[in-house]
Amino acid sequence: MNILAFESTCDETAVAVVRDGRESLSNQVFSQADLHAVYGGVVPEIASRSHVEAISLLSERALQEAGITRGEIDAVAVAYAPGLIGAVLVGVNFAKAAASVLHVPLIPVHHIRGHIAANYLAFPELEPPFVCLAISGGNTLIADVRDYTDLRILGATRDDAAGECFDKTARVLGLPYPGGKPIDELSRTGDDSRYVFPQAHVEGHPYDMSFSGLKTAVINLAHHAEQTGEELDRASLAASFTRAVSDSLVPRAMRAVAELGYGKLVVAGGVAANSRIRRDFQTAAEKQHIALYIPPLRLCGDNAAMIGAQGYYEYLAGVRAGSGLNAYASLDLSRSYGEEMVNP
Ligand code: KG4
Repeated sequence: MNILAFESTCDETAVAVVRDGRESLSNQVFSQADLHAVYGGVVPEIASRSHVEAISLLSERALQEAGITRGEIDAVAVAYAPGLIGAVLVGVNFAKAAASVLHVPLIPVHHIRGHIAANYLAFPELEPPFVCLAISGGNTLIADVRDYTDLRILGATRDDAAGECFDKTARVLGLPYPGGKPIDELSRTGDDSRYVFPQAHVEGHPYDMSFSGLKTAVINLAHHAEQTGEELDRASLAASFTRAVSDSLVPRAMRAVAELGYGKLVVAGGVAANSRIRRDFQTAAEKQHIALYIPPLRLCGDNAAMIGAQGYYEYLAGVRAGSGLNAYASLDLSRSYGEEMVNP
């Protein structure tokens, strides 16, 4: 089954063709990062406009790269939540039109379920149940993935997402947007014990996280250095910050795997590209004798192949949308399509 998939929830316009949920025949991604870099973050209006400009051409390219005709598309999948509402709407409306003219079913896909499904493309043997840590620019959560479309949130950040924290820290250090990769590179020459940052714990909620205190601590450190004329060791600050993020993520995810007893941990989302975090998870997984799945870098960030992969399993579960499909800025990962309308 060939699924034409669309992703436009933030600042990547992406179109892909995915076969049977496991094989990406094409994966076209247009990153708008350069357009937003000058503002130090994503400007929603610019994101929406840029999606409109790119999506049609990318769709043609995705079909070309896949080497298939329109007639060979069996369904259309689209990320319909969560994200920047204007941006999500572009993908949703384009997908509705595509499904309508191709006379194929339309499958709505939760963006974070898509990030998790990137692992189905990378690891053919991977099947639920497993524990998943999803770490992206807008979301940070630990989920019990009981089945392909049966997910339950075990814990989540109470404030900022891990990626957001990387982006803000990069800004403080004068690094370009998006800041995750530049911090990753800078931190390689730093000493991760040079600066000590606070760790937040939410009483009674062992899987919940908080990153706003860490973000504030970095900002205060930088301001203090500026006021006193003290020179910051930027590489060590980047390394110490990354260590603090990793120390917050790794023990929680490992605890969840131990508690649920699946013996399998999946890490997903843009921050899963971080070399230090990947390394820390590998070490912890070896120590705890569990199987660890982290997608290759090209599947960590936003892309449409992951939407096509999850779309396949949503399709098998009977999920279909009509022309009334809406976009949602926020949506609980555990809710199936249709439930968001019942109790938004
Ligand atoms: O998953 P993603 O592409 O978009 C969302 O769905 O939000 O994640 C983007 C986030 C950005 O905050 C970016 O700075 C971060 O992923 N990121 C990284 C790295 N590469 C991207 N964070 C840490 N280390 C990296 N190497």
